Amino acid sequence: MARLEGKTAVITGAADGIGHAIAEAMAREGAHVFLGDIADGAGEEFATALRAAGRQADYVHCDVSQGADIAGLIDSAVKKTGHLDILVNNAAIAIGGMPVHEMTDEQWHRLIAVNLTSVFHGCKYALPHMIAQKSGSIINMASAQGHIGLDGWTAYAGAKGAVMAMTRQMAVEFGPVNIRVNSISPGTINTPMNDRLIKEIGGNLAKAWVKMHPLGRIGEPSEVAEAAVYLASDAAGFTTGTDLRVDGGLTAAPRYVPELL
Ligand SMILES: NC(=O)c1ccc[n+]([C@@H]2O[C@H](COP(=O)([O-])OP(=O)(O)OC[C@H]3O[C@@H](n4cnc5c(N)ncnc54)[C@H](O)[C@@H]3O)[C@@H](O)[C@H]2O)c1
Repeated sequence: MARLEGKTAVITGAADGIGHAIAEAMAREGAHVFLGDIADGAGEEFATALRAAGRQADYVHCDVSQGADIAGLIDSAVKKTGHLDILVNNAAIAIGGMPVHEMTDEQWHRLIAVNLTSVFHGCKYALPHMIAQKSGSIINMASAQGHIGLDGWTAYAGAKGAVMAMTRQMAVEFGPVNIRVNSISPGTINTPMNDRLIKEIGGNLAKAWVKMHPLGRIGEPSEVAEAAVYLASDAAGFTTGTDLRVDGGLTAAPRYVPELL
């Protein structure tokens, strides 16, 4: 039997990268997936392709820096299916590669809005439905960078560390009403985000990433998606307040080698 049969899942940043892989895997496992993104063309196309493959999927425009957009995405899922079982707060942006004192206030506020306030809004609008039905699974996308240091990424790491702290707090607060809240910390994953960083930063970045991971490679979005399916499923029924590292061992044995960059 499919592991998420009959569940409704909302996934932000689902048009590409890790969110796309999570949506694909959750739909394959029987969930009705509601895809939120700002890339409307790619998002609509993805939802159409999923439906053509016999899955249940809807695309809704959702800029996660706008609380009203997140409310609208969650609303459409509940209006169409009558419930909300899984929320994946996945969308985020990478602004970094500069020392913290060279970051502008605009860059800081943009990063916090997209990577952190979005998680607050996702939970704020999902929780009333989950509390009423006395069940739910929230998965917040954190990062290996919430665990270890890397020059140039203070704001990004700060937001991801806060996402993990919020995850623990909400797990404690909503455990008594059967809502589980967990996060995932990926290592370096083969996504458009990193393709852009390789272009922007250049040098030996791609080779350094491979060396930093004890498994000797970067990860694939589908490998993060399988962790999300697990955390959303009944198999993880006693798992809450945890951060699941899907990082090829990156944070177990940091191998950051600046001279390779
Ligand atoms: N790729 C990695 O190596 C890596 C590592 C650790 C953590 N993460 C985290 O995983 C998540 C996904 O990263 P990714 O690599 O797939 O990113 P990505 O840039 O490849 O894809 C992100 C998706 O989010 C969408 N998006 C961007 N801004 C948005 C906004 N304001 N509102 C809604 N959607 C928006 C994009 O259109 C895109 O579809 C993020 O939370 C990221 O911080 C990624």
